[in-house]
Amino acid sequence: MWTDLSLPALARRPAEARAPSESPPPPFLRGPGAFILHYVRLRPLPFVALLTMVMGAAGCAVASQYVMKLLVDAMAGPREANSAAWTALAILIALIAIESVLWRLSGWLGCRTTVGIGVDMRLDLFNYLNGQPMRYFAENLAGSLGQRITSTAGNFGALTNTVVWRALPPFTDFIGALIVFSLVDWRMMAVLALFVVLVTGGLIVFGERGRHYHRTYAGHSNTVSGELTDVISNMWAVKAFSARGRERDRLARDFHVEAAAQRASWMYTEKARVIHDVSLWLVAGAMLSWSVHLWSIGRITPGDVVLVSALTFRILHGSRDMALSLVDMVQQFGYIEDTLRVIAQPQSVVDAPDAPDLQHRGGTVEFRNVSFTYNGGRDAVHEIDLHIPAGQKVGIVGPSGAGKSTLVTLLQRLYDVQSGEILIDGQPVRTVTLDGMRTADADVPQENTLFHRSVMENIRFGRPEASDEEVYAAARAAYCDGFVRALPQGYDTIVGERGTKLSGGQRQRIGIARAFLKDAPIIILDEATSALDTESEMEIQRALVRLMRDRTVIAVAHRLSTLTAFDRIVVMMNGRVVEDGTPDQLRRQGGLFNRMWRLQAEGLSLDEVDVEVEVENETVLRAGSGRSEVAAARRGR
Ligand SMILES: Nc1ncnc2c1ncn2[C@@H]1O[C@H](COP(=O)(O)OP(=O)(O)OP(=O)(O)O)[C@@H](O)[C@H]1O
Ligand SMILES: [Mg+2]
Repeated sequence: MWTDLSLPALARRPAEARAPSESPPPPFLRGPGAFILHYVRLRPLPFVALLTMVMGAAGCAVASQYVMKLLVDAMAGPREANSAAWTALAILIALIAIESVLWRLSGWLGCRTTVGIGVDMRLDLFNYLNGQPMRYFAENLAGSLGQRITSTAGNFGALTNTVVWRALPPFTDFIGALIVFSLVDWRMMAVLALFVVLVTGGLIVFGERGRHYHRTYAGHSNTVSGELTDVISNMWAVKAFSARGRERDRLARDFHVEAAAQRASWMYTEKARVIHDVSLWLVAGAMLSWSVHLWSIGRITPGDVVLVSALTFRILHGSRDMALSLVDMVQQFGYIEDTLRVIAQPQSVVDAPDAPDLQHRGGTVEFRNVSFTYNGGRDAVHEIDLHIPAGQKVGIVGPSGAGKSTLVTLLQRLYDVQSGEILIDGQPVRTVTLDGMRTADADVPQENTLFHRSVMENIRFGRPEASDEEVYAAARAAYCDGFVRALPQGYDTIVGERGTKLSGGQRQRIGIARAFLKDAPIIILDEATSALDTESEMEIQRALVRLMRDRTVIAVAHRLSTLTAFDRIVVMMNGRVVEDGTPDQLRRQGGLFNRMWRLQAEGLSLDEVDVEVEVENETVLRAGSGRSEVAAARRGR
């Protein structure tokens, strides 16, 4: 029924050389400016209200300085005309009250708005992140990605804080003060305006130049978080290999690199402060001397001197706040930019435009001349042609590194193939939606990890709407009901991060129950029972064949004896299918499968079979020289 492909390969269809398509991120993720504007545009009213309140409050503050001048002047005049003083005082008190109310209202509104945006932002980033292909997650540390998403919301909050409460009030002060100053002496106004524009402009240029310091620091900070999470999640290895000191030193090196970047970023901002302080001292001194001089020659009143000195200090301090907050804004921008650079990378495995959902027709699987390489190196699978009819139970075997996991990973479209095509129920997986396509298969991967949730939630993850009874039935089919009930809280027991509170075999069985529960026509198991003893493994494989009668099963397995109940065995080596047939056929053929079978019967594992592919399309199997002696010795030769 199936051909043995170990001899000269079948005529191949010409490979459709197709580069994986890339989908760029949505426009709002393409840069920090677009990103921030996107969220501001989503809530225009609160932002307009916020700006109005803050400008109103700052306006009140400037106006009270002017009213203070009126009060001083009224008090310096004849005592009989004191009604002007009382009026000025009343206005002053009212302005102070209005200013306070506006500040507090802006605080309340700012809190509501930025916290709400923080939620949207994190969800949007997570939503985009989970569309990245598995290749991306192999290259980026989980802790670092988590940290980036969390800190972006914080950075946005800090940015809003900077703009609304640190840059805008001094800006309003500045405009108000120019108006008030022009009432006293327009030359003073011109000098002050010139100074503020020069200093603020200079500090902005200075800040912009320092942007790379802030970005570098943000990058290091995220890397360090990722490293730290990585070490914590590998704590077992750290202890088992007495590596606490080593890991501490390694972290210390990372921390020091991060600290150097942080110092550079921070000190750059401090330099800006120094430049500003010196300028402020010079200008404040000059302005005050000038106003006292004008008073001494009778050109301005004492009230004007009070006004000039109060406003000068206010504006000069304000100009520093404004310039430094602009520098900080550049810094926050740098952090957000860094996060977007990592998270908003183009996605390579995406839905085709207007892709339909997959139409389920029983679970037929077809590989047409499929080749795939991970990083442009050697093909991990090469020119695979396989047709698996609906309902067939197929075992995939072969030595380690043969490409078995890669093959089943491609079927789930966790990666896109570079050439050829994979079809489920006659529909190319690339042409249907990813979510729709993945309803077709239930998978138990080689490295099965669980969520830090209860056993019940972990199994029900396969089908969230499943009833408790259905969960128990799936658990029984996967031989895990017994041990789960014996756990301290039974099905409510929390399994620990990645399932660490369970044994490897228990974790695998829960993974299998989860896959059973998902009502998918195709079940894919990648060494899903490898951590079990041979007997349990056999039981599960048999249950699979018995219970999953109407489903297609593709199971990668190392222990060949567990696959005897399967309809068909596909043997892989060096990325190719080298044998294909029923277990009996393959054993009778006396090829690679039979050889592996005999070696395993003698107690050797598949990995001890040293196999090589030589000469074009011709497969030669030989036992490795050293190991063949071991094998021979075991055979008693
Ligand atoms: N994420 C990856 N990035 C780069 N190369 C990879 C990746 N995963 C697998 N490979 C390479 O692809 C080849 C096939 O690996 P694969 O995991 O498919 O083998 P396998 O047959 O499942 O082996 P095993 O029996 O050990 O699980 C190997 O050479 C491996 O090094
Ligand atoms: Mg594998």
